[in-house]
Amino acid sequence: MTKYAILGFGTVGGGLAEVMADQKEKLAAAAGEELELGYILVRRDMPDSPWRDKLVKDFSVIENDPDVTVVAEVIGGVGDAYDYSRRALMAGKSVVSSNKELVATHGLELAALAREHGVSYLFEGSVGGGIPLLRPLSRCLAANRIDEVYGILNGTTNYILTAMDAQGQDFAEALKKAQELGYAEADPTADVEGIDACRKTAILADMSFGCNLDPAAIPTTGITAVAAADLALARRLGYTVKLLGRARRTDDGCLAFVQPHLIPLSHTLASVNDVMNACAIRGSAVGEVVLCGPGAGRHPTASAVAADIADAVRHRADPMVPDLGAPGGVLAPESALASPWYVRTAASPEQVREAFPGAEPVCAGQESAFITESMDRPTLEARAAALEPLSVWRVLA
Ligand code: HSE
Repeated sequence: MTKYAILGFGTVGGGLAEVMADQKEKLAAAAGEELELGYILVRRDMPDSPWRDKLVKDFSVIENDPDVTVVAEVIGGVGDAYDYSRRALMAGKSVVSSNKELVATHGLELAALAREHGVSYLFEGSVGGGIPLLRPLSRCLAANRIDEVYGILNGTTNYILTAMDAQGQDFAEALKKAQELGYAEADPTADVEGIDACRKTAILADMSFGCNLDPAAIPTTGITAVAAADLALARRLGYTVKLLGRARRTDDGCLAFVQPHLIPLSHTLASVNDVMNACAIRGSAVGEVVLCGPGAGRHPTASAVAADIADAVRHRADPMVPDLGAPGGVLAPESALASPWYVRTAASPEQVREAFPGAEPVCAGQESAFITESMDRPTLEARAAALEPLSVWRVLA
């Protein structure tokens, strides 16, 4: 028998306590021994909680209990979460986490600390929520050179775009519902501005290409400028709109960015709706695999964290620490990647055809939209300038 502690008792922390209790025997079998909840670290008073005898406010209680061998950090952010993760690792306790901000910004340092102290550092729930994604990437696809990873990595924005597309909801209405369902971060800025997807893209790139990226350096555009008109016109052109995180191997590093994309309706990712996430991985031997599932939410994310707890215990003699690459890889400019583009404009169809011969615009009132041939961003911007575009989005080709 070993003890674990949960740091943070919000959506994921609460779900984790429930999943651990609900699947106690199965998780014990996976871990190779019984798992006992030792403590839940939470600031607020919760006298009526069914877990009240486990609640503590002082992290040092957990830090100094030698029976606690695994700490699940589900606080989020890089303040206390970073401090407690470091202290837990230095105290010889494995740390598991769903905290993508912490993994993307300090994961390399925490992984090194874990190795130094002979414990595991696992973060399966940090990307794709409940989708088994990082373990398949690092272990099941070990026989592959990973050339590209891309996908829908944020449940909130996918929920919003799906509602705008399918139900004609406006952005604010769809965001409010996403928050009520517990998908959006406390501050939805990180979701709607693409920052959350950027952190997950950084983790995927780190694990795929060996270049540990600074998420702040990854060009990121969220969905706040995606208009209802874009979704309506995209559909008439045979596309839907999704926020994609993309990363590709290059000769000396990688290319990584986050942007709304038009996705052909025939593409697998076009039918990944609501809070679902999906990640495509292109490997040298396997070709392209797509992993899909619930990317956010109380129990899906807890599912990943709970399995990490069991693996950390199972591997006490042989700790698990995923490879997050090394700093110094070159981040290639996003603008150089050629692709077709979607352009929405109030210019006349004649002006559109003058700037883009062969374009077939669809019209809605005074506006029209069309898809260009493949070109890099500077070429697109130069040719489209005369049309004074209202929206320009990349097309996944
Ligand atoms: N806010 C995140 C999302 C939660 O919507 O995907 C899961 O990381």
